[in-house]
Amino acid sequence: MYPVRCGVVGALAYPAAVTSWLAPVPASLRWLLVPVVAVAGLILIRVSAPPPENLDLGRVFFWTIVTLVAAALPVRLPGGVHATITTAPILAALFDPGLLNPFGVCWVAFIGTFEPRDLRGDPKWYGTLFNRADWVLSAFAGWLVLEMTQSAVRHGDPLGVLAQIAAAGGAFAIVNNGLSMLANSLKTGTALSRVWALSLSNVAIGLVSQVPLGWLMSEVADKVGLWAAVLFMVPLLLARYSFSRYTETRDLFYGTVQALSQAIDAKDGFTRGHADRVSRIAGAIARELGIAEREIEQIELAGLLHDIGKIGIEDRILMKPARLDPDEQELMRRHPIYGASILEPSAALRPLVPIVLAHHENFDGSGYPQGLKGGDIPIGSRILIVADTYEAMTSDRIYRKAPGHDRAMEQLNRYKGTQFDPTIVRALQTCIERRGPTSFEANDLPPINYETLAELRRRLAREPLVRDAHAS
Ligand SMILES: [Fe+2]
Repeated sequence: MYPVRCGVVGALAYPAAVTSWLAPVPASLRWLLVPVVAVAGLILIRVSAPPPENLDLGRVFFWTIVTLVAAALPVRLPGGVHATITTAPILAALFDPGLLNPFGVCWVAFIGTFEPRDLRGDPKWYGTLFNRADWVLSAFAGWLVLEMTQSAVRHGDPLGVLAQIAAAGGAFAIVNNGLSMLANSLKTGTALSRVWALSLSNVAIGLVSQVPLGWLMSEVADKVGLWAAVLFMVPLLLARYSFSRYTETRDLFYGTVQALSQAIDAKDGFTRGHADRVSRIAGAIARELGIAEREIEQIELAGLLHDIGKIGIEDRILMKPARLDPDEQELMRRHPIYGASILEPSAALRPLVPIVLAHHENFDGSGYPQGLKGGDIPIGSRILIVADTYEAMTSDRIYRKAPGHDRAMEQLNRYKGTQFDPTIVRALQTCIERRGPTSFEANDLPPINYETLAELRRRLAREPLVRDAHAS
């Protein structure tokens, strides 16, 4: 009677326990986390019960330690995915004929991939659990492909062996990075293509190169000895160095662009973050239109720098509180040309030149500087003019309150077909209806937590004591 009662209580308590256990997990992530962890758990139990006979525990221990050392050096990529050099030692364990697989490789993948950040609670427990499950599934997928192709490859056939390495390594990498990108995409609400473009696409070669390296490690461990496989840590550390250089260079580039963008906002007298918001709105519209991630990144950068040419406009015109006379208007209208010539010398910023040059072109050809019309205007510029207008009308200025969202949409709709591309206005409308105006706030750029030059000028003007202290 007792076991029956326990069974009934257990069956009733189980869903409640699982529900409360999953409470901290973001809802979007649950449907992926639960099956991935469940399948990985079942695989681990299946390969371990019973454990294989004649198991070389020392070998399992060796590959686990090598993987743990590699896992201690993760690099956080911009899309939130962490790149590690653990792929090579896990694949070495997979290809190692001395290791009884799939038992050996699954446990190496499970234990060896614990990172120091897991102990610090970053990621949260469910992230750690998901990552472990991801590695076990990837290792098992690699082993499955290796098993299935074993009979088709003749002993000593180099092409066959190469194809087998590529297939097994490919299965491992696809499951591993695919699940990791999917989890990041669900957790952050970022499109999968964006996670790919921001993170893995730029280090993919470094990750893929670990596949042959893993096979070489296993061959050397088998033919020379386990100790010799440790030498492969040198090229692995080099691969890791290239990952970290990529993130450093990207951070440096975006930090510099952000600083430039702040300088333009300050000179223009805009409230802080104008260009930053234009960039986000433009990015959201571009995503709504289904534009490729690479192009979206350029449009976002152009959003940050679209008014860089105003550096070349005199303050007396830029800051003039009254209406500009025709001559002054003519000078002001040159800022897209100045902007293009400022960006032109930089190889990294050169793709933005056509977008910045045409960001005041009107859809009906009445804009400047070239009077381009319709589809002749780059898509990025057609997006920027809409984003710029919407941002200007939905953010407060020092001299006026924001007219607001409704008024902004009214203006955009009134002038669509003349000033604005109707498709772009519709895309902005759909984007806001579906996601709300706050959807423009998510950004990879660092938060602005300092006073802009324009704000500093105004504050000093309001605080005569501070101004006098500076003057003296
Ligand atoms: Fe402009």
